[in-house]
Amino acid sequence: MYWRLILLNVLSGFINCSADINREKAERLMAETPLIDGHNDLPWQMRQLFNNELEKMDLNTLEKTHTNIPKIKAGHLSAQFWAAYVPCESQYKDAVRQTVEQIDVVHRLCRLYPNDLMFARSTDDNWLVDTGKDTAINNGLSDFGKELIKEMNRIGMLIDLAHVSEKVMNLVLELSNAPVIFSHSSAYEVCNSKRNVPDDVLLKVASDVFAQKKGIVMVNFYNDYVTCQKTANLSNVADHFDHIKKVAGHEIIGFGGDYDGVTRVPKGLEDVSKYPDLVAELLRRGWTDIEVKAALGNNLLRVFKEVEKVRDSMSSVKPYEVPIPYADVVNPCRTMYGYPPQDNAGSMVSLGLHLPVLTLLLHGTIVWLF
Ligand SMILES: *[C@@H]1O[C@H](CO)[C@@H](O)[C@H](O)[C@H]1NC(C)=O
Repeated sequence: MYWRLILLNVLSGFINCSADINREKAERLMAETPLIDGHNDLPWQMRQLFNNELEKMDLNTLEKTHTNIPKIKAGHLSAQFWAAYVPCESQYKDAVRQTVEQIDVVHRLCRLYPNDLMFARSTDDNWLVDTGKDTAINNGLSDFGKELIKEMNRIGMLIDLAHVSEKVMNLVLELSNAPVIFSHSSAYEVCNSKRNVPDDVLLKVASDVFAQKKGIVMVNFYNDYVTCQKTANLSNVADHFDHIKKVAGHEIIGFGGDYDGVTRVPKGLEDVSKYPDLVAELLRRGWTDIEVKAALGNNLLRVFKEVEKVRDSMSSVKPYEVPIPYADVVNPCRTMYGYPPQDNAGSMVSLGLHLPVLTLLLHGTIVWLF
């Protein structure tokens, strides 16, 4: 195991006479295999609530957020991917500055709470959803996007398919030599949201034709993706876990709460301290210890290790150096230094082009909680 865990049972003062046997077992399993959560937006809350002035808050007592240190401990969380999220409206404005500031705030949080947080790793994120209303630009991936997949494999970067269109999910699953993650997406069959993963894609994620590519779908708790309505409860979330297990097996399931990134969370799963209640519900529904532990963290660790193996196997592959075609990225705020003038002239017509492939550059950071 690569992390240390300080078990601090903040509820130890309570003696529950009708102690739920599954809840007790959940606590035990989570102590043995602590939870790794795929997506959390606490850094964005730091921006919104404190303009990133961390001295103005205390993560030990902060109550406005789904996430604080006591809740993390009560929830047996060992690691979370923290998103360095910036809103779409910052595109062509101060997106880069804000992103760098969000990365900085993650580092500062870790430094401020060294006994509880440790920075572990980073990848890249953008917030686009295929609503079906936008015109497809590359119909999947541009040529440059395809090169990026290879490049992400080469450097050992986790490829996150949350927020991409179904076409991109399918293309990347074919192209990538390493397994992919859906860091915070649920099952489309259970709730028909484009943010969720359809059954045929679940099967590809689980494909045992390429066992080394078996990825992970980390279930999102946002009410709107759980029930496709404004309200949801813990049992509705467990339905997604059951569905994915039924369709594709327990080896591709994880937790991707989306806490502090959403405004509505299910009854019974109000904040990060409530994960053990969901685990207890899975046990009640007949999940075995092995299945529960797989979903808690073992699946993600397997994916991580496979990604590292692919990276190591590509150590002699040279970096891809060809710049993205100017026409793919021309916008009013971009200079053309380095590109031949004719590229610029020919591409001015495509002003305002969006770049769906950027959704693949998910900007997130993983923080080990201990
Ligand atoms: C959860 O919501 C469903 C409706 O989606 C309802 O049938 C069920 O009884 C609720 N469960 C609990 C424990 O409240």
